Amino acid sequence: MIRMTNVIAMLALVSAAAHAQDDTAALGKKLATNNCAVCHTFNKGEPNGQGPNLFGIIGRPLAAEPGFKYSAGMKAAAAGKVWDEKLLDAWLTDTQSVAPGNAMTYFEGDEARRQKIIAYLRTLH
Ligand code: HEC
Repeated sequence: MIRMTNVIAMLALVSAAAHAQDDTAALGKKLATNNCAVCHTFNKGEPNGQGPNLFGIIGRPLAAEPGFKYSAGMKAAAAGKVWDEKLLDAWLTDTQSVAPGNAMTYFEGDEARRQKIIAYLRTLH
């Protein structure tokens, strides 16, 4: 038999997990603002900067933002690949391992920070 108190406890847990996700994304937004926004925009329809607009990046093919002039290295690496969380993690760790010769001169060595940034990127849909 499922007790009401158990159900309530479970709902509280689920909601706490959802809040934790929100908090992670909020921290990621701060990191992205401080570390990526000099070169990237994040909201729908915003212009490309030194780097392409990142709205909807998860699920988008590599090097596919209209109007952005990607480097030859980036275009060569694209080859039908789509950005997912694993590839983004590899990219932020060492962009050259994903696309040799690409033009992004930034990396994030701290895994916890990468995960927060990726949690934020996941909200951009
Ligand atoms: C100094 C400028 C600069 C900073 C800082 C920077 N980027 Fe970039 N980024 C670029 C450039 C330039 C490109 C395009 C690279 C190319 O064409 O070779 C790029 C490309 C990307 C791409 C691939 C986009 C696509 O359409 O395939 C992603 C994802 C990305 N950056 C995420 C980030 C994130 C997240 C941060 C912050 C943690 C960040 N970048 C910080 C300049 C920057």
